[in-house]
Formats: sequence, structure tokens, C-alpha cells
Amino acid sequence: MVMVVPKLEDRLIESTQPIRYFTLAVSIYHLFDTGLFDVLVETGSASVGELANRLELDEEKLEGFLKYAKNEQIVIEENGRFRLSPKGVELGDFRGWYTMMIGGYAETFLQVGGKLKANSGWASRDSMKVGVGSCGISHYDAIPLTQSLMSRIPGGCHRLLDLGCGNGLYLVEFCKLYPDIQAWGVEPSEGGYAEAVKLVEEYGLQNRIRLTCSPAIEFFEGDFDYEPDFIVLGFVLHEILGQDGEEGVIRFLTQITDRFPEIHIIIIEVDNRIDDPDMMNHGLAKAYYNPYYLLHYFTRQRLETEKYWDNLFARLNLTVKAKETVNHHVDSTDLTIGYLLQRGK
Ligand SMILES: C[S@@+](CC[C@H](N)C(=O)[O-])C[C@H]1O[C@@H](n2cnc3c(N)ncnc32)[C@H](O)[C@@H]1O
Repeated sequence: MVMVVPKLEDRLIESTQPIRYFTLAVSIYHLFDTGLFDVLVETGSASVGELANRLELDEEKLEGFLKYAKNEQIVIEENGRFRLSPKGVELGDFRGWYTMMIGGYAETFLQVGGKLKANSGWASRDSMKVGVGSCGISHYDAIPLTQSLMSRIPGGCHRLLDLGCGNGLYLVEFCKLYPDIQAWGVEPSEGGYAEAVKLVEEYGLQNRIRLTCSPAIEFFEGDFDYEPDFIVLGFVLHEILGQDGEEGVIRFLTQITDRFPEIHIIIIEVDNRIDDPDMMNHGLAKAYYNPYYLLHYFTRQRLETEKYWDNLFARLNLTVKAKETVNHHVDSTDLTIGYLLQRGK
């Protein structure tokens, strides 16, 4: 029998595909972050000179960037003008994933080697991009999930308190959907808070939405003149779990329900199933959840399992009034879980 030894070049091409996709992911992030994507959507097509002028970019570098993107079929060049390809246009819906995973966490992934060392502390991340990107993703998954849980609250929802609100997208979307809602958003990242202020002003909702730059626990320990009837913690409890441990989470949730015994709390968390090979074989788990799980181990966040949260809520006498996952049209893994909780009852 003749053994066919693959050419080294074939093995090289196969083994360097991750480098191609690494560069591509970073470049798609820059396409969004520089404003190039939006200008190409707005203008339809533009020359390098026009794009460079409009966005104050270096023409030579921009030309290289666009030619690279052309080779990746993100843009099309015709008669000296560039436009988005159908594949490029398609990316528009997924901007949030790039903002969070690349803008927020690319620096984290590059620190993994150093931070694997014992006693090396935590890797950094760009918290503003994490908050903004997360809200961009939530627009498709957690915001509709929250809305569905809100519809289960008897008597409806009137005064929202969103702790860890990122760029305030939940607040704006709910105020647009429900004309009676007042909202207060709390966000510790200064950049995320500034983005929230901008978004609320953009929609002219300053008369209905208040914003505070603070971590959730400090905000709750302070004095505030507001009686929320529901609180949203969208992907925030595992941040508090990482920062303040289980005792911190218990103290925090107890503080909320002691102060507002009737309050409904909506908690969105991701079930940590990194150890479940069947689940991790799912396309979305490979593309998103596996890297997502990874970054939590390095950034002082503690993702937990569904069972862990079920037990913790039961111990705190928080009744699960509803538990739902994301619409399967968007995410069929059931890894993102929404809880509607109320004390006792
Ligand atoms: C993954 S993002 C979630 C943003 C948004 N809630 C959503 O559902 O898309 C986590 C947010 O929690 C914020 N955060 C981190 N630690 C926090 C704390 N101790 N209290 C309140 N928010 C916190 C981060 O700054 C970030 O905006």
C-alpha cells in the first residue's frame, strides 16, 4: 500500500487558518469601529479619498485595509470605488458580537499566556466595549427574553431599575416600547455610562431615564429616591460573583428584597457548560460560547451553572416565577437563561 504524505504546503494552509480568521475578526471589528461600515452603508460606494476625507483616515493605510477586505470578500472594488459586498452587508446585524468579543476582549485573549501563571492576577478588558457590545447582542437575545419575562409580571411594569446597564439599550428599547415606563440605569464603567448618556440624549428620553455611574452594590447601599417595581440584572450577577464572591451576591440580593419586598427581579445568566462535549459541539457554542467561557476565567468573573443559580435562589427564598431561554430562531443552545424572581410567594 502506498502511503500518501500530504504536502507540507497543504498542512501549512490548514494549520494557519486560525491566523486568517484572527486577522479577519479584528479587521471586521475595525470596519465597524472606524465608522467605515456606516459610511459605506450610507453612501452606497465611495473612493478611498472620499472615505479618508470623511473619516480623517490615512489614505495609504486605508487603501491597504480595503484591498485586504476585498480579498476577504467583505468589500467590492469597482471603477476605483468601494462598496460592501453582500457578505459585508450581512455582518451589520452582528456588530455587537465584534464589539464585545474583539473590542472588549481581544486584549484579554492576548494576555492569556501571561495570566496562566500562578498568582498573575487578572487580564484586562475594555469595559466600555464589553457593555456596548453586550447590549448590541442583547438586542437580539436577552432584550426579547427580558420582555417576555416582563409580560409575566402581574400588574405590568412601570419603574425599571437596570443594574449594569451597559450603554443603556434596554432602557431605551423598553421606553420606546412602553410609553408608561420610567427607568433608571446604573453602570460602573465610565465609558459605558458616557455611551448610555449619549444614547438616552439621542432618543430624547432624558425626562424618563435617569443614569448613575456606579457599581450595583454601592448604588444600592446609597440613598436613592426611587421605587422600582422591577429590576434587571442582564449578565451582571456573575460579575458580582467574581468581584464579591457568593457572600457578596447573597448580601446584594437580600438587600434588594429587604428594601423592596414585592419587587420582581429579572436575571439573565449564561449556563456554564464548558465541560459538556455534546453542547460544545453546537455551531454557536463553537463560534461564540467557547471563547466566551474562556474569557471569564481570566477576567474576575465567575460563570456558574443553571443548577448553581437554581440552588442559590432557592436558598434565598427567591421563587422562580418563570424561567425562559432565548428564542430558538436566534440561539437554540438554551445556554442563555432568564429568571423572573420574587421573594417568598
Ligand atoms: C456583559 S455586560 C451586560 C450589559 C447589559 N446588562 C446586557 O445585558 O447586555 C456586563 C455589564 O456589567 C457591568 N458591571 C460589572 N461589574 C458590575 C457591578 N459590580 N455592578 C454593576 N454592573 C457591573 C459591566 O460594566 C458591563 O456593562
